[in-house]
Amino acid sequence: MAIRKVSRMGHPVLRQKCKPIDPNHITGSEIQQLIRDMFATMVEYGGVGLAAPQVYEPVRLVIAGGEEDDEGHPRLRVLINPEISVADPDDKIGMYEGCLSIPDLRGYVERPAAVHVEAYNERGEKIAIDLEGFSAVVLQHECDHLDGILYIDRIEDTSQLGFEREVARFLDLTEEEDEDDSEQEASGAD
Ligand code: NI
Repeated sequence: MAIRKVSRMGHPVLRQKCKPIDPNHITGSEIQQLIRDMFATMVEYGGVGLAAPQVYEPVRLVIAGGEEDDEGHPRLRVLINPEISVADPDDKIGMYEGCLSIPDLRGYVERPAAVHVEAYNERGEKIAIDLEGFSAVVLQHECDHLDGILYIDRIEDTSQLGFEREVARFLDLTEEEDEDDSEQEASGAD
């Protein structure tokens, strides 16, 4: 297991369409090593999600957090070759997003509030899940990375892009609305 360097905006690996992973290779040593390294890297950098191109691997694999299990512990999912579908494009949620590949900045992005996702998990099993709210945002942010899209591409009003400290002081006032989620949203860098 190794902590890998995180690619930063401007590197072409973040702007390309990533290649699917052969499902038969998921349980092989190469992909399993990548998954372990991505977990270690994500923990080290304090992200709630990470996409493979962020560690210079242009393949369709993400780790996505923002969910809790039945006991209230954070749940992280490995999703390989994820396919997202949106039931209601008009049902949107907006929040200030961050990204480990764009350090220190936050920007306000609106996305569909609920998504259905089909993917392979880390054991090579086909899974289907439904997510809404914060976890749906994290997942969409990570999956965007697989198509070379960064959250700043989705900011409609660039006056709502700023440095973390200034955003927290002057722009992001959503935390007061739901205290339970505030810590999670405040650490939404991925
Ligand atoms: Ni990101």
